[in-house]
Amino acid sequence: MVIDKNEKILRTEGLKKYFGEVKAVDNVNLEVSEGEILSIIGPNGSGKTTLLNLISNMIEPDSGKVFFYGRDVTKWAPSKLAKMGLVRSFQIVNLFDGMTVMENLKAAVASNLGRIHRPFSSLNKDEEITKRSLEILELFKLSDKAETLAGDVPHGDRKVLDVALCFALNPKLILLDEPTSGVSTSEKKPVMQRIEEAVRKERVTAVIVEHDMDIVFGYSNRVVAMHEGKILAEGKPEDIKENEQVRKIVTGEL
Ligand SMILES: Nc1ncnc2c1ncn2[C@@H]1O[C@H](COP(=O)(O)OP(=O)(O)OP(=O)(O)O)[C@@H](O)[C@H]1O
Ligand SMILES: [Mg+2]
Repeated sequence: MVIDKNEKILRTEGLKKYFGEVKAVDNVNLEVSEGEILSIIGPNGSGKTTLLNLISNMIEPDSGKVFFYGRDVTKWAPSKLAKMGLVRSFQIVNLFDGMTVMENLKAAVASNLGRIHRPFSSLNKDEEITKRSLEILELFKLSDKAETLAGDVPHGDRKVLDVALCFALNPKLILLDEPTSGVSTSEKKPVMQRIEEAVRKERVTAVIVEHDMDIVFGYSNRVVAMHEGKILAEGKPEDIKENEQVRKIVTGEL
């Protein structure tokens, strides 16, 4: 795919998805610039996950379009989008618990290189796979957990590993759905810091859905607040923080 750097890495145009009476996503026009971390906040049921599902084409929109570097990718299969560099993670982690952290990474890297059909033991002999897996391990500060079974690592590390697996696909744009869900309050910031550092180091653009308003402000370049399927407000973190509507609806203050 030819990448036009003058185009936004992501743009949605009038994206809409209703479930019966529920306007899950209602005419959303979103623009994401290359290199930024954009956070999407909003109360339960405001349409955040549905928006990510529409962008990654896990579900079809009723109407509207998605553009990746200016190209209309609305009808592209998720696997094709991932190959082009648009990768998403889910609200619930998706790991092989019976495999070690390193094996999980190797399997993901191998799959990206189209080598998953080989016997698993041969992955260890594949230098390219090992090299990239080690790189990702370090990037996400998971090296000390390399030989631990994914099912046995603490929840915070599991969430970090889940994002790390997306990096095996060499994303240009990553969509993360609540990367700190289920993580204890005290662990949320360190978990997010590891993810942010990796994202910035690899110069990946990120759209991150996050429930906890407070932690969003630490790492976001821009924040979009959603309410009932619509964009309620968007802007710099400090402006969104002061926005009265956001404080009332999203944080339940005032
Ligand atoms: N497959 C579906 N079928 C019917 N209704 C759905 C479906 N998926 C989502 N909805 C509804 O659409 C609305 C938006 O849901 P969505 O999951 O996108 O919200 P969210 O902002 O991600 O919420 P949360 O913060 O709880 O994760 C909700 O009212 C939800 O019940
Ligand atoms: Mg959600």
